[in-house]
Amino acid sequence: MCGILGFTAKRNVVPLLLESLRRLEYRGYDSAGIAVINAKNQIERQRTAGKVNFLAEALAKKPLSGHSGIGHTRWATHGIPHQDNAHPHMSNGSLALVHNGIIENHEALREALLQKGYQFSSDTDTEVIAHLLHHHLERSTDFLSALKLTLNALHGAYALAILDKNQPGYVWAVRKGSPLVIGLGTTENFISSDQLALLAFTQQFIYLEEGDIACISSTDYRIFDSTGGCVTRPIHHSIATSELAERGQYRHFMLKEIYEQASVLQNSLASVLEPTQFRPVPFGHVVEKLLAATKRITIIACGTSYNAGLVAKYWLEAIALIPCSVEIASEYRYRDPVVDNQTLFVTLSQSGETADTLACLRLAKTLPYVGSLAICNVAESSLVRESDAAILTYAGPEIGVASTKAFLTQLSTLLTLSLYKAQLDQLASPSIIDVLHLPNLIEQLLSFDGTIQKLAKKLVHKHSVLYLGRNTEYPIALEGALKLKELSYIHAEAYPAGELKHGPLALVDEQMPVIFLAADNTLFDKVKSNIQEVKARGGDIIIFTNHQGLWNIDADIIQLPAAPAFLSPFVFTVPLQLLAYHVAVLKGTDVDQPRNLAKSVTVE
Ligand code: M6R
Repeated sequence: MCGILGFTAKRNVVPLLLESLRRLEYRGYDSAGIAVINAKNQIERQRTAGKVNFLAEALAKKPLSGHSGIGHTRWATHGIPHQDNAHPHMSNGSLALVHNGIIENHEALREALLQKGYQFSSDTDTEVIAHLLHHHLERSTDFLSALKLTLNALHGAYALAILDKNQPGYVWAVRKGSPLVIGLGTTENFISSDQLALLAFTQQFIYLEEGDIACISSTDYRIFDSTGGCVTRPIHHSIATSELAERGQYRHFMLKEIYEQASVLQNSLASVLEPTQFRPVPFGHVVEKLLAATKRITIIACGTSYNAGLVAKYWLEAIALIPCSVEIASEYRYRDPVVDNQTLFVTLSQSGETADTLACLRLAKTLPYVGSLAICNVAESSLVRESDAAILTYAGPEIGVASTKAFLTQLSTLLTLSLYKAQLDQLASPSIIDVLHLPNLIEQLLSFDGTIQKLAKKLVHKHSVLYLGRNTEYPIALEGALKLKELSYIHAEAYPAGELKHGPLALVDEQMPVIFLAADNTLFDKVKSNIQEVKARGGDIIIFTNHQGLWNIDADIIQLPAAPAFLSPFVFTVPLQLLAYHVAVLKGTDVDQPRNLAKSVTVE
């Protein structure tokens, strides 16, 4: 989704803005732009459709220079990806601003501004903010009052960075519903929607809170809360470095992140486990208290995180005997859920900024849940900060839009949470020693890379692929199908294998690859029967299995390592990630930034 930047320094900020825009690329975008206040105190801007490289080329031809500037990567919502719709947007040459989010009442505001004589040069909702602010500035004695009047008229969730040519050396920023962080440097300060974009310049951060307005200069900053009072917010020192977000020897971030999975899993497990048992109070005292009062769990998430939630349902019910419902955030937020005071509300999100998931949390806080728990990869995210308690997944920065290591660490967190709840309730549960072997298992699975690369050739020209599994392998099939469609744009669908006869079998013919996840568990024979049903209809079968028995069937069989049944979601995840990756590479699609997708979905 859109990324926003605002920099003030004693040097030219344009190269810094460009570098940070490149670091925002992973979020997904279709155009980019920069505006600065130049030495003559005029605002100048450069915008291009397409990649940041195009903007860099445009800037090489027509350079900009200034000590304060703003930058933007745009993910189109209102208006097609085009230079005219790219940010920054300006009003009367005196203001420029960049925006992340959506202004829901932009049509009414545009109408009113047209009546006042303002002319629009884009189809965006953003341009109304620039003109409205200009309108109020003409009638106000100070910038802050004009800004507040403007914000009062806006409906929606947004973050802004603003340049005013009458205040050279300053950048204003607003956070309302979209994240924003201030980075503190030495004689330079920064604003960004994403801390990763600033790591090359600073590790000192202030996280703005809902409703905050900030004004930075190269040597100072001020923050005003939603009541208008000047406030102090804590400064955090981040241990993250910009190298963490670099690709190294790998061809794509996604491949790097797939290969990092053994080590991040190790980190994630080490955060709660000792060599043979749980650490004392592994998830913290607040989680401990919430778990003690929990009789049921509702999990809310989107996309890949939702698939992790579906796996957790099987674990929580089988291991911890806790009834669990899992819901897609965009559905839950518009339902009228019936809630009791023994149900724990859990959100799952790698980014912690997904708009629908956050809206659900805010709704849940008005309902009589036991409390809210966020399971998230980003410590400073809105989801973590707004929940009663949080468990971090420790995957490290994930740059590839398609989630891989964040998913695997969500799984390990949900598994250890299920095991811990079972322990609290004095239930017999699977061995922690087996869980501690997971990083080894992942290493073994990564050695299948070459085999899967060959298999990928079989799928590259297909139009559609069916993924089937039972029990925990059903959500893993969903995740495998999601990865394939995100990366290679091949239509892929997943079903519980038992649903075959209820519809999807009609799709099967010689052209249709059908991928079975045949885990070594009590349902193995049932999956085998489903395989026969597809074979009888001429389907082109690919079997991923960790059952060690002999197979007497004409199919591509990928024999995976043995593992206890409760760990099989890990066994099948890695090969399916690699399969999607290699199909995409063969097809030549943009692996790290698939078309139309964004890393952090901060708008509804
Ligand atoms: O940051 P979140 O985990 O809340 O994101 C949810 C989805 O947008 C995300 O998982 C999406 O489906 C990914 N592109 C999956 O690869």
